[in-house]
Amino acid sequence: MNITRLSRRALVCAVAAGAVLAARPAGATVSVCIDSSNPAHAMDRRVVQAVARQQGTDAAIYTFDGSGAGDDDGFDVKKFGTLAASRCALVLGFPVDATHGAVPEGMRATAPYARMGFVLVTPRSHDAETLAALPHGTDVAVTYLTAPNLYFVKHPNVQADIYPTDAQTIASVVHHTDRAAMVWRASAVAYLPGGEKARDYCIHALNEPHAAWDVVALYGPHGAAAAASFQKSVEALRRSGQLAALLSPYAMSPANPVVLAAAEAPAAAPAAAPAAPAAGGEKPALFTAAQADAGKKAYADNCAQCHGDNLEGMAGPALKGKNFASPKANFHVGDVFTIVSQNMPATQPASLPHDVYVNIMAFLLQQNGMPAGSAELTFDGAKASTVPLVYSGE
Ligand code: HEC
Repeated sequence: MNITRLSRRALVCAVAAGAVLAARPAGATVSVCIDSSNPAHAMDRRVVQAVARQQGTDAAIYTFDGSGAGDDDGFDVKKFGTLAASRCALVLGFPVDATHGAVPEGMRATAPYARMGFVLVTPRSHDAETLAALPHGTDVAVTYLTAPNLYFVKHPNVQADIYPTDAQTIASVVHHTDRAAMVWRASAVAYLPGGEKARDYCIHALNEPHAAWDVVALYGPHGAAAAASFQKSVEALRRSGQLAALLSPYAMSPANPVVLAAAEAPAAAPAAAPAAPAAGGEKPALFTAAQADAGKKAYADNCAQCHGDNLEGMAGPALKGKNFASPKANFHVGDVFTIVSQNMPATQPASLPHDVYVNIMAFLLQQNGMPAGSAELTFDGAKASTVPLVYSGE
């Protein structure tokens, strides 16, 4: 997967940048787009300048404010590909999930240069390193439509207080409205009074699904050469130890491309994988073909706008394939159904009738290689199911 809300902003920005760049003649320098509304934009700027020094050239940095782009849901990813490909060599600051990395269709990404992610922020007086360590009934501030919204299901000791922006999420802790907050690390650094040295607050990386992200530069077909030299320079900066300093305090550390590559290779995840049945037929049949058919239509009406017509992922993560239901994700049917029925559609959680959720779940199971049978899936049955959801397609 997976494009967080932040990534969607990056997409919108890149289009804005394309429009800006259209007026500029192409030069020998590397043109780079940076979104000034990204809380880590200063870091991206430093990286680009260091890369240019390394190459003995100049960097042409085009800054744009991607925050006010408005209607996220109507955004067309393909258009982004076309524009960025023809007008901007590299778009910096694009986050990809560290375990399920995916970039917008038609785009390519450099090797990651920074490790970012979601953190837990608490006042020092009530420091807790993990969600589980927070006292029962703690209100935790979280930003609308960001990955940490998923964590409340697994941690019933805490409850969500949802804010529209990271700045407001942080402010709720500063003003003691909430005891803790979950935000993008760069936002904690940017919005806490005193930044990461804020003496009155603690910032801990969240050890939860989809919490660790890597930052890459995106490019289109015409950016391949610029991307290759960017990557080479970043590698040199990494080896000389300068990269970590450029990334501080926004990033947790430089991303480790070796680790990322290993995480993507199925062969590198040996012991953790539960014994997946060799043939699809050994999996239990949890739903009927009629339910999956009805679910296909309901999915198209309620989910496809964010998760893609073919479940490939867009504004929301992919819902099909190894990146979604990988053995490492350790998903069970009940976990996924709880997310679907309580948190989705993301803009109107829990708004659909029970049988529609059940049909959509049947469709998701079918698409991930589970067999149909004669017994119908029920709402309570889906919720309680501990059957592992592991993709078994090609
Ligand atoms: C408005 C956009 C939007 C719509 C519509 C939407 N989703 Fe989502 N969905 C998201 C986003 C964004 C996430 C990532 C989690 C987050 O940011 O809260 C997500 C996460 C998920 C996840 C968790 C995936 C994972 O790998 O952890 C599932 C499952 C899911 N959605 C299913 C659905 C289904 C089924 C529907 C239709 C009933 C739906 N979604 C409708 C945006 C949407």
